[in-house]
Amino acid sequence: MKLGVIVGSLRRESFTRKIAQNVARLLPADVTVEWVSIDMPMYNQDLDDDGMPPQSWVDFRATVKSCDAYLFVTPEYNRTLPPVIKNALDVGSRPMGQNAWGGGKRGAVISVSPGAVGGFGANHTLRQAVVFLDITMLQQPEMYIGGVAKLLDENGRTDERTTEFLQKFVDRYVAFIHHD
Ligand SMILES: Cc1cc2nc3c(=O)[nH]c(=O)nc-3n(C[C@H](O)[C@H](O)[C@H](O)COP(=O)(O)O)c2cc1C
Repeated sequence: MKLGVIVGSLRRESFTRKIAQNVARLLPADVTVEWVSIDMPMYNQDLDDDGMPPQSWVDFRATVKSCDAYLFVTPEYNRTLPPVIKNALDVGSRPMGQNAWGGGKRGAVISVSPGAVGGFGANHTLRQAVVFLDITMLQQPEMYIGGVAKLLDENGRTDERTTEFLQKFVDRYVAFIHHD
């Protein structure tokens, strides 16, 4: 089982990436994590139409196809998705008829924010797009991580209470991607 983890921030000290790393540490040994790079040029259909997609798009699409399931971990920008993760969804969805995400693979989203609302807007905007991309998403538990700055120590590790909370999510999610 290869799990593609897609982190919606390119920031060096990204809280979101740190939460994703904490989640990854809680996965069982039979789930291998693929950290999917989404640092790519913005989607422009001309490049596909001209048969000259950037190598980073080609590599990204191949990586997405090779994964058995997905975990999206994203911050929120202006109550919606950061463009970098929306771009990744878009690049993977094209060329038309060659959606790399598809086939009913399973996924989940965790939204992360230093604020109190926990990235609710980003969480649901992502859910809206992935319905069309044919990813079957975990419904419960919904994962909104608010006040993230207070949950991480200087090494980027979550406190005990948060780790237990993440473990409950991981257990449900792993059962879900194994179709239990
Ligand atoms: C352009 C921009 C818009 C933002 N809008 C929101 C927002 O709508 N909701 C929110 O909770 N945080 C918002 N933030 C704050 C981010 O949650 C914060 O920068 C966070 O650290 C980003 O995630 P990261 O640490 O993984 O990079 C925004 C930040 C930026 C740069």
